Amino acid sequence: MADSAVSHGSLPLAGRRDDDMPGHWLLARMGKRVLRPGGLELTENLLRDADLHDADVVELAPGLGKTARAILDHRPRSYIGVEADEQAVDLTRQAIAEAGSVRHADADSTGLHDASADAVVGEAMLTMQTDRGKSEIIDEAFRVLRPGGRYAIHELSLHPDTLSDEQKTEIRHALARSIKVNARPLTETEWRALLEKSGFEVERVRFAPMALLEVKRNIADEGVLGTLRITLNILRNRAARARILQMRRVFTTYRDEIAAIELIARKPA
Ligand SMILES: C[S@@+](CC[C@H](N)C(=O)[O-])C[C@H]1O[C@@H](n2cnc3c(N)ncnc32)[C@H](O)[C@@H]1O
Repeated sequence: MADSAVSHGSLPLAGRRDDDMPGHWLLARMGKRVLRPGGLELTENLLRDADLHDADVVELAPGLGKTARAILDHRPRSYIGVEADEQAVDLTRQAIAEAGSVRHADADSTGLHDASADAVVGEAMLTMQTDRGKSEIIDEAFRVLRPGGRYAIHELSLHPDTLSDEQKTEIRHALARSIKVNARPLTETEWRALLEKSGFEVERVRFAPMALLEVKRNIADEGVLGTLRITLNILRNRAARARILQMRRVFTTYRDEIAAIELIARKPA
């Protein structure tokens, strides 16, 4: 799908006001297409580490369908997306055309068969769930994976592991206030513990800076023209500009404590 094919009208929450919109959909409305904290580079590492060639792949929460396309470049045996937002389902269907299918369902109850996938991929979707919601989705990924299958996630993490509960709460509140999503990033130890509680063995962890709103990252993710288009859209829209500057302030204030994390977890054979 050409990015220009995504009109504002077809984006999720198209009728919602800019000052009240979840941060990721606000950025999408401004033209941003890479909506995950570690950017395309961490996605590329994640997909390589997940070993997708000839695999049956399930993607949880494909959003605009950008990673779906990248997954297809790895020549999986099959692709199924599972997305809770109806408009995002349509966008991912457009993105993959006949190369797979997309279900409108919650990631914690995909309706897929037990042990039917070799890899489950999810980006920027677990962080926004409650602790219980995270566990329900991880349990579901475990259920649909075959023994030896990989669960590959790209999420937000907190550093260092020794942050106090008060510091974690302060960061989570600041994030939630600015992006208007109840973001609950975890430390590496907490992510590992959650995956292990569902039965996974964590095989690989990588980090990348949380640079979603940095110019250099945007040029890498969206290209020079894409970055210019996004910048012009933000400059033209006062409410969106105020929101995005506020988000950027929070990301900058906590730049030493927030990072993108990749984890590859295996269902024991
Ligand atoms: C920040 S966007 C990330 C989209 C995409 N994974 C990416 O990295 O570009 C979050 C996506 O998660 C989807 N989502 C959130 N909770 C979900 C759930 N419980 N089940 C399925 N999709 C969910 C939202 O509809 C949205 O498309």
